[in-house]
Amino acid sequence: MRRILVTGGAGFIGSHFVRRLLREHPEYEVTNIDKLTYAGSRDNLRDVEGDPRYRFVQGDICDRPLVEELVSQADAIVSLAAETHVDRSLLEADDFIRTDVHGTYVLLCAAREQGIERFVYVSTDEVYGAVPEGYSSSEMDPLRPRNPYAASKAAADMLCLAFFASYDLPVVVSRGANTMGPCQYPEKMIPLFVTNALRDEPLPLYGDGRQVRDWLFVEDHCEALDLLLHEGTPGEAYNIAADNYRHNIQVAEAILELLGKPRSLIRHVADRPGHDRRYSLDWSKIRALGWSPRQGFDEALAKTVAWYGDNEWWWQKARSGDYQDYYQRQYGWRLEAAARQEGEG
Ligand code: NAD
Ligand code: TYD
Repeated sequence: MRRILVTGGAGFIGSHFVRRLLREHPEYEVTNIDKLTYAGSRDNLRDVEGDPRYRFVQGDICDRPLVEELVSQADAIVSLAAETHVDRSLLEADDFIRTDVHGTYVLLCAAREQGIERFVYVSTDEVYGAVPEGYSSSEMDPLRPRNPYAASKAAADMLCLAFFASYDLPVVVSRGANTMGPCQYPEKMIPLFVTNALRDEPLPLYGDGRQVRDWLFVEDHCEALDLLLHEGTPGEAYNIAADNYRHNIQVAEAILELLGKPRSLIRHVADRPGHDRRYSLDWSKIRALGWSPRQGFDEALAKTVAWYGDNEWWWQKARSGDYQDYYQRQYGWRLEAAARQEGEG
C-alpha cells in the first residue's frame, strides 16, 4: 500500500488526516479529492501544497468518471467527504443524501472494479442514535439514526459493510465521537461558541444544555484512522472515543472561562428537533488494537481555543458570505425568542 486516495481532505478531520499521512508515512503518495463546499478550504493544507507526494483534485465524489480515474491510481481509500452538520440536514437534506449516500456508493463501485486493497469509511457515533444513561454503544448494536445527517451516514455505513459481505471488498468502518480541534468550520458547537465568544456575541445553547457528548481531539481521531487503515479487520466497524464526557453547558462554561468572558453570554435557545440527548461509545475493540486517546478534555479544549484565538483570519473568512444567511436562518428567530423571554422574565 503506497498510493492513498483521501476524500474530503480539505475539511476539518480530513486535512489533519492528510497531514498525518504525509508526516508518518514518508513513502506514501496522497491524493485528496474534495469538492470544496462551504466547509472545505485549501487554506487548511497550505503547508503541504508544495510536497511532491501530495496532490489536490477539486472534484465531487458523485462524479463517476473522475472517481474511477482516481481510484484506478490508488491502492487504498480513506473516505471522509460528507455533508456533516446536523442542523443543516434538518433544514434541507438533499446534499446529504447525494454526497453521503450516493457519493459513497460511487466510491464503493469504483473500489470494487479496481480491486482496491483497503477502503476505510469514516462513519460517526450518531448512527447509533441517542444512548440511554448508563449504556455505551458497541459495534454490534443496531443503527438507529434519528436525524437526516445521521441517517445518511448510517445508510453509507451499511452500504460499506454490505459491499464486504457481497463482494469481499476490504472495507473497514470507523464510528468516531464528537471531534474538536483547529480548522473546524464554525457551525459546530465548539468553534461556533469560541468564535462567538471572541466576538462577544451570545452562545446559543440548545434546550437545557444538559445533553452529553464525548469529546475527541482531532489528532487522536486521525491516529485511530491511520491504525484502522493498516490494522483494521476487513468487514468490521470500530468505535473511536475518549471517555471525555461533558454536558454542553459545561463545554460552554469552559470556553468562556478560557477566554475570560462572562457567563452571561450563554443564551438558552429553542432546542434542535429530535436532539439526541446522549452519545456514548464502548471503544474496547480499537483499544485492543493498541490505540487510546492522548488528549484529555481540558488540554484538547485549551489547544482548540488557542488556535481560534491565533487564527482570526481563518474563521473571519469562514464566517463571511453565505454563513451569515445560514446563521440568520438557524439562530435569528431562536435568539429573538430568547431575548423576548428574558425581557418578559
Ligand atoms: P467537514 O464538514 O469539515 O468536511 C467535509 C469535507 O468534505 C469538506 O472539505 C467538503 O468540501 C468535502 N465534501 C463535501 N461534499 C463533497 C463531495 N460531494 N465530494 C467531495 N468532497 C466533498 O467534516 P469533518 O467534520 O471533517 O468530518 C469528516 C468526516 O468525519 C465526515 O464523514 C463526518 O461524517 C465524520 N465524522 C465527523 C465527526 C466530527 O465531530 N466532526 C465525528 C465523527 C465522524
Ligand atoms: P454539534 O457540534 O452540531 O455536533 P453533533 O450534533 O454532531 O453532536 O453539536 C454538539 C452538541 O452541541 C449537540 O448536543 C448540539 C449542541 N449545540 C448547541 O447547543 N448549540 C449550537 O448552536 C450547536 C451548533 C450545537
